Amino acid sequence: MNEDLKGFVKGIVCGFTSWTENEFSIRVKADIKPYIAGQFTKLALKDSNGEWSRRAYSFVNSPNHSKGHQEMEFLIIDVESGNLSPHLAALKVGDTVFVGEKASGFMTLDEIPARAKDLWLLSTGTAIGPFLSILSELESQKRFEHVILVHAVRTQQELVYLDFIKQLQQKYAGRLIYIPIVSREKIAETLSGRIPALLQNKQLITAAGINPTQDDSFFYLCGNPDMVHDTRDALLALGFEKHLRRSPGHFSSENYW
Ligand SMILES: Cc1cc2nc3c(=O)[nH]c(=O)nc-3n(C[C@H](O)[C@H](O)[C@H](O)COP(=O)(O)OP(=O)(O)OC[C@H]3O[C@@H](n4cnc5c(N)ncnc54)[C@H](O)[C@@H]3O)c2cc1C
Ligand SMILES: NC(=O)c1ccc[n+]([C@@H]2O[C@H](COP(=O)([O-])OP(=O)(O)OC[C@H]3O[C@@H](n4cnc5c(N)ncnc54)[C@H](OP(=O)(O)O)[C@@H]3O)[C@@H](O)[C@H]2O)c1
Repeated sequence: MNEDLKGFVKGIVCGFTSWTENEFSIRVKADIKPYIAGQFTKLALKDSNGEWSRRAYSFVNSPNHSKGHQEMEFLIIDVESGNLSPHLAALKVGDTVFVGEKASGFMTLDEIPARAKDLWLLSTGTAIGPFLSILSELESQKRFEHVILVHAVRTQQELVYLDFIKQLQQKYAGRLIYIPIVSREKIAETLSGRIPALLQNKQLITAAGINPTQDDSFFYLCGNPDMVHDTRDALLALGFEKHLRRSPGHFSSENYW
């Protein structure tokens, strides 16, 4: 491996799904080290100036899926004029992409305090990915009384992985509640607006049919940093506290930029 790309291994694209004009999933085979559901690695390609461009991407699939942790899936938005994502969007099956050998991230099941019975997963855009990985784990299916998966997107078209979510709901036998939110279109029987406001005005709680409490609930927030910031404020106002290993609380987050 190139000296200036230490820690990366060569991967081969083995699948590509287009969800919208600028959102897609790629599957990659690469000889990476084992990872934990909810984590991310880096993808890298050389740009037109011969410089390596590398960015973080979360695994969508569970490391324990049938094809093993060395076949992985990423959900990606093609950011206009972005350095790397437009080049990832142009990849075809059989192409090479470099993959970080070691995964990172603490948005995992083992970081959730043992007292939590209800797990709230609040995401925007592509940040539903790591939550799908967590939801695929047998441990999540056994451990929680309820899991509430919230996915906020601009348009209905961006409500991705619907079939997969339906399959998961069957496995959870009524304990996985999926709440899509579409902010820039009016869709019948779908919440409209933004996660923090919908938490404050209780619409999210009504839709879930679960009342979050300090004793029973834990929240993971992931995606748009403004959503993470505003949701943190909304949760603090509702009496929940940020979770730290040395001082267990009720919510934790991961910003995508
Ligand atoms: C821990 C972590 C995990 C991540 N996982 C994913 C993932 O699974 N899928 C994914 O698409 N991106 C993910 N990202 C973002 C990703 O690393 C890149 O920032 C993104 O692909 C843009 O890179 P770029 O070089 O094309 O754009 P850049 O030239 O670096 O432009 C960055 C700008 O793009 C916008 N942006 C970046 N990421 C997103 C996004 N996901 N959705 C909407 N707008 C965005 C923001 O305005 C940001 O300022 C993650 C980031 C982090 C830190
Ligand atoms: N999604 C598209 O149709 C589209 C089209 C062209 C280009 N892009 C590019 O793609 C990127 C954005 O992608 P995206 O749509 O996945 O991500 P996004 O802009 O983060 O939007 C995803 C969801 O997050 C919500 N949100 C934004 N700020 C928030 C806040 N402060 N609090 C709570 N919720 C908040 C949005 O609501 P609001 O709608 O209310 O903001 C939307 O429902 C940008 O780089 C953009 O230029 C996207």
